[in-house]
This record gives sequence, structure tokens and C-alpha cells, in this order.
Amino acid sequence: MAVGETRLEGKVALVTGATGGLGGEIARRLAQEGAAVVATDLVGTPIDDLIAGLPGHARHYGATLDISSEDEWAGVIAAVMDKYSTLDVLINNAAAGSLASVVDEELETYQKVIDISQTGTWLGMKHAGAAIEETGGGSVVNICSILGSVGGLGNSLAYAAAKGAVRTMTKNAALHWAQKGVRVNSVHPGFIGTDQLMERYEGTDRHAAMLANTPMGRLGKAEDIAAAVAYLAGDDARYVTGSELYVDGGWTCA
Ligand SMILES: NC(=O)c1ccc[n+]([C@@H]2O[C@H](COP(=O)([O-])OP(=O)(O)OC[C@H]3O[C@@H](n4cnc5c(N)ncnc54)[C@H](O)[C@@H]3O)[C@@H](O)[C@H]2O)c1
Repeated sequence: MAVGETRLEGKVALVTGATGGLGGEIARRLAQEGAAVVATDLVGTPIDDLIAGLPGHARHYGATLDISSEDEWAGVIAAVMDKYSTLDVLINNAAAGSLASVVDEELETYQKVIDISQTGTWLGMKHAGAAIEETGGGSVVNICSILGSVGGLGNSLAYAAAKGAVRTMTKNAALHWAQKGVRVNSVHPGFIGTDQLMERYEGTDRHAAMLANTPMGRLGKAEDIAAAVAYLAGDDARYVTGSELYVDGGWTCA
């Protein structure tokens, strides 16, 4: 057995956007390491199929959750408490973006991206983080982006605004909970070649720009992100809070 393979045994971990490119791999890794996974995503997404494919599928639970709805967060957390009586880990993974630049973005789209990617992440911390605190402490991992701290390719303005907020909210919440048993950290993926991302961009100028600007010369893999998340979720990271973990092939050091 590889070191750390059961690091999350006995923990209940909620993942948002769990059927997406990164969410699915994060759910799989947490399940592999022993966690009971609460897999959530929008109505109409294949949550049941995801759960059926996870190791130890009988211990997992699926629920629909639009992260921008406070009522839905409250309902899902109540259901989790009913089923498990505890919550140990929140992976705030779901987000939505827009490629438009500072001058091309539309107000309506900007606000929608903020509602989901920024406000939804805060609502997750508010509801799931509070449940984690009440049931004995644990870990919140906010999936951010290199665009939470650098300009990327000079577009995706609304997404960058939301991710910048996620980066600083992470530190603010980490301080709030520093002596209350809840750690809060952000993971910053560079460009990750998930099936979904490749479907959108393979062969385009954007794909070429992603590659050309990544010092390691390749896009990341979903597994690279899942490994970082599993570390921060578990007790190996017991003294780590308010930190930013970049998994970006060197993008932000250039
Ligand atoms: N793939 C990358 O290169 C990359 C790079 C940097 C950061 N990220 C971040 O990683 C996370 C996952 O990205 P991904 O590449 O897997 O994206 P994806 O588009 O493959 O998946 C996103 C998931 O979020 C869900 N979602 C969208 N709006 C939602 C809402 N309102 N409520 C609940 N769920 C919602 C979607 O249904 C989908 O399952 C996001 O936070 C993203 O910003 C990804």
C-alpha cells in the first residue's frame, strides 16, 4: 500500500462541481484515500454515475447543489448532517468563467461569474465551514487559479476578479478559524488538460498560448490537482492554513 493511501479514512468530504474535469478526479482521489464523498453538482449532471464509479461507492452520497444558492447550501448541509452527523472536509471546486477581456465583458456575464465563482465559494465556507467547525474541525480547500494572482493571457477578466477574491477570502477565513480547528487553503491550478478543457480548446491559439507560457512545457493533469487537494484535506497538513499551493508547471515563477 502506498504511503498515505488511507489518510482520509473516517472523514466525510463534500466536493462541489464533482462531475467536472477536476471535480471527478478530486472525488476519486478522496474516495481512494478512504473518505466518504458527498458529490454535488448542478441538476442534470451525472452525479449517480460518478458515485457508482468511486471506490467504496456504498459510503458516498450525491446531491444536486447550485453553489450560488444559499437555500440549496443550507439544504445540502442539513442532509449531510442527517446522514453522517459530521462534515470534515469541503472542497470548493465548482466555478464558472468567461473568456472576455476588460473591455469586451458584459455586465450580466460579469455578475453571473461573480455570483457563482466568488459568492458561491463564500457560501460554501459559510455553511459547510460552519458545519465542519461544529462537528470537530477539519479542512476547507478552495480551488482557485493562477488567475487569482497573475494576469494569465490577458483575458477572462470576470473569472480573474472572482479568483482573486477566492484567494484573499481564503486567508481571511483561515484567520477566523485559526484557533477553532478549521484550516482553509487555496489550490491554484495552472492550465490543466482535462477532457472538458481539451474539448473546448485543443488545436486553438489559446491552447498554443497555454503551452507556450507553461515553463514545464505541458499542461497539467487532473491527478496533479487531486494529489495537492488530498494533501491539504488530510492531517498531513495539520499546521498549514491560509496558504496558496500552486500546481501550475511553473507558470507563476516566470
Ligand atoms: N481546468 C483548468 O485548467 C483549471 C485551471 C485553473 C483553475 N481551475 C478551477 O478548477 C475548478 C474546476 O474546474 P474544471 O476544469 O474541472 O471545470 P469544469 O467546467 O470541467 O467543471 C466545473 C463543474 O462545476 C459545475 N458548476 C458550474 N456552475 C455551477 C454552480 N452554479 N453550482 C454548482 N456547480 C456548478 C459544472 O457543472 C461542472 O461540473 C474550478 O474552480 C476552476 O476555476 C481549472
